[in-house]
Amino acid sequence: MTEATEAPQSTESASAATVVASTRDELRAARAALTGTDVAVVMTMGALHEGHADLLRRARESAEHVILTIFLNPLQFGPKEDLSRYPRTFDDDMEIARAQGVDIVFAPTPDVVYPDGDPGVRVSAGPLGDMLEGKSRPGHFDGVLTVVGKLLHLTGARKAFYGQKDAQQLLLIRRMVRDLDFPVEVVSVPTVREHDGLALSSRNTYLTESDREVALCLSRALAAGAEQAAYGPSAIRRAARAVLVEEPLALVDYLVLVHPSTLQDVPEWYRGEALLAVAARVGTTRLIDNTPILVGPGGGRLDVFSQADQES
Ligand SMILES: Nc1ncnc2c1ncn2[C@@H]1O[C@H](COP(=O)(O)OP(=O)(O)OP(=O)(O)O)[C@@H](O)[C@H]1O
Ligand SMILES: [Mg+2]
Repeated sequence: MTEATEAPQSTESASAATVVASTRDELRAARAALTGTDVAVVMTMGALHEGHADLLRRARESAEHVILTIFLNPLQFGPKEDLSRYPRTFDDDMEIARAQGVDIVFAPTPDVVYPDGDPGVRVSAGPLGDMLEGKSRPGHFDGVLTVVGKLLHLTGARKAFYGQKDAQQLLLIRRMVRDLDFPVEVVSVPTVREHDGLALSSRNTYLTESDREVALCLSRALAAGAEQAAYGPSAIRRAARAVLVEEPLALVDYLVLVHPSTLQDVPEWYRGEALLAVAARVGTTRLIDNTPILVGPGGGRLDVFSQADQES
């Protein structure tokens, strides 16, 4: 885990407007210096892209103050996952933070977040955490929720912004906030894509040029599925599957059309909002993508789920 301890030390690198805090004391001091109490948080693992910038922009629009957290959380990486090679671009991240008017960047090392080492007590994601992403990444969502809970406490934020790209993570954070009574409003942000449809992701930097071509089949499959929204679940699944089978170099982990709050496959008679989600390995990189869909006559692609389905 020592690979994760590269500390962004300098406070000078921040402009007067954006304060960098890497310890709990620095965060407390920076937090106390904010004039208002309306604080939003955007949580990231760094290597920021336009998707993160959009989260920050929306947070900025809806709250008086914005805290950006940059933390590579060892707890959510499996033993065979890519923590040590994860891209680190702190200076570029600071540029984006400043451009978006972020008040505080909290960029701690693991020993700051977990001063006693591995936490004995963790948040359990429950059965939803064992489905889809959780099947391939055991313990991942317990690690995510544990750090999200800690960062909500440490930042004292009352609004938290997350990307729809990580649909299961978003669902589980909403559930945690509701089930454990966190006084926080969770806001979903639509997935930001490249001009050709590829969902932005920090891990896209691992893709070779030819991997990137292959990777386009994920967003193409979602688009093809969504086009069949009016005709019901099997038409949607069939159209999406047909795109993926044309690309044997994408090793598909799952392609599902599920209910947005239970993640169970929707039955053929289902009409309403559903999540079409895909995960595949392309080269050495595991990619995920999804789209919310309104299934049924007049249906089609949605940016995010409606409030009724969001549960908090
Ligand atoms: N393309 C995107 N559009 C909108 N939000 C995004 C996008 N990609 C990531 N996010 C959101 O940014 C936040 C931080 O995510 P994270 O740091 O894991 O970035 P990432 O690009 O998903 O990285 P990785 O590829 O390693 O998972 C999450 O709420 C995530 O959903
Ligand atoms: Mg991510």
